[in-house]
Amino acid sequence: MTIATQEAPSDRVIRWGIVGTGRIARRFAQALAHVPQARLGALWSRRAEPAQAFADEFGGEVCESFDSLLASGIDALYIATVQDSHADYAIAALQGGLHVLCEKPATINRPQLERVLDAARAAQRLFMEAMKPPFYPLYTKLREHLAADPIGDVGLVRAGCSVPGVPDDHPSLSFEHAGGALLDIGIYEMFLAVDWLGAPHEVQTLGRLGSTGVDTFASLNSRHERGIAQLFCGLDLHGKGDALLMAKGGHVTIHEPWWNPSRATIRYADGRVVELDEPFTGGGLNYETAHFCELIRAGQLESPVMPHAKSLQMIAMADAARAALGLRFAGE
Ligand SMILES: NC(=O)c1ccc[n+]([C@@H]2O[C@H](COP(=O)([O-])OP(=O)(O)OC[C@H]3O[C@@H](n4cnc5c(N)ncnc54)[C@H](OP(=O)(O)O)[C@@H]3O)[C@@H](O)[C@H]2O)c1
Repeated sequence: MTIATQEAPSDRVIRWGIVGTGRIARRFAQALAHVPQARLGALWSRRAEPAQAFADEFGGEVCESFDSLLASGIDALYIATVQDSHADYAIAALQGGLHVLCEKPATINRPQLERVLDAARAAQRLFMEAMKPPFYPLYTKLREHLAADPIGDVGLVRAGCSVPGVPDDHPSLSFEHAGGALLDIGIYEMFLAVDWLGAPHEVQTLGRLGSTGVDTFASLNSRHERGIAQLFCGLDLHGKGDALLMAKGGHVTIHEPWWNPSRATIRYADGRVVELDEPFTGGGLNYETAHFCELIRAGQLESPVMPHAKSLQMIAMADAARAALGLRFAGE
């Protein structure tokens, strides 16, 4: 009797590599344990010691160089370095035949992102910005609920997050690494705006730069295909962190922290109130990672949930906001 040992495509184990072994890489590795049929294969970071400590804790082979990571037999690369390096790593990995899940912001400006997407198309590989909120159970449930019991077209999105007390040497405040509130935090709010309102047509920005030269607070009003957004992001004030979606037939509050959502309240114009309570497990990065693995198995080159067009629209908003604040990074 012959026993078939070949994996069905739907069961294929996805072998992951990680570049950068800092804070978010740890959360990714913890989340990976909650993703079916996925495992950490290899990793590389500039400094050998933290990379080895990471491998001791989470497994995976420590590679001697980025090139050896690309050649280590992995299927997909998770880019967890600071954002000024995302584009170069993404392009090299795509050209090396890997699928790429890249931390937010995917790149620091739109021209860089266009180069990455060109590389993905040329290599016929999957590329997705790791924008976690739409993959959380609460967000999925909210979309389903509003499809079944609508409030009408959302015409206003109001969202913000401001986190003070970041140490001066944190990458969020680094000019060299293209930090700042807009790219670190605001990119989530820009996602929410384009996800519910469509492409941006106009962005008005007020804000301030801090002592390291990056923006420490920004307030945006943006006009989109289907409505208006009021957004803020900051590194110097303590912000509330919930989100509001308004339509003719009611409004939704996604409770704080809306970017790691677990609760929402829908208030209908007829007086009904619906509470959604959808806790998440695994730390939250597992949902986007599971989705990415499914796309690889299905041979897809783009996510329908987080398509390239949304990443382009988000970074175009960030570019416009930075231009208004007079903030240019090296090479811009
Ligand atoms: N999705 C989320 O929830 C979330 C949350 C936080 C951050 N992020 C994003 O994740 C990224 C990393 O943030 P983090 O908080 O993890 O930062 P972090 O803790 O400072 O870690 C950054 C890592 O990148 C490495 N690195 C820095 N510059 C590099 C370069 N030029 N080449 C190779 N490696 C380099 C560092 O290595 P060394 O040790 O050698 O310096 C370190 O391992 C950022 O883009 C950030 O926006 C996402």
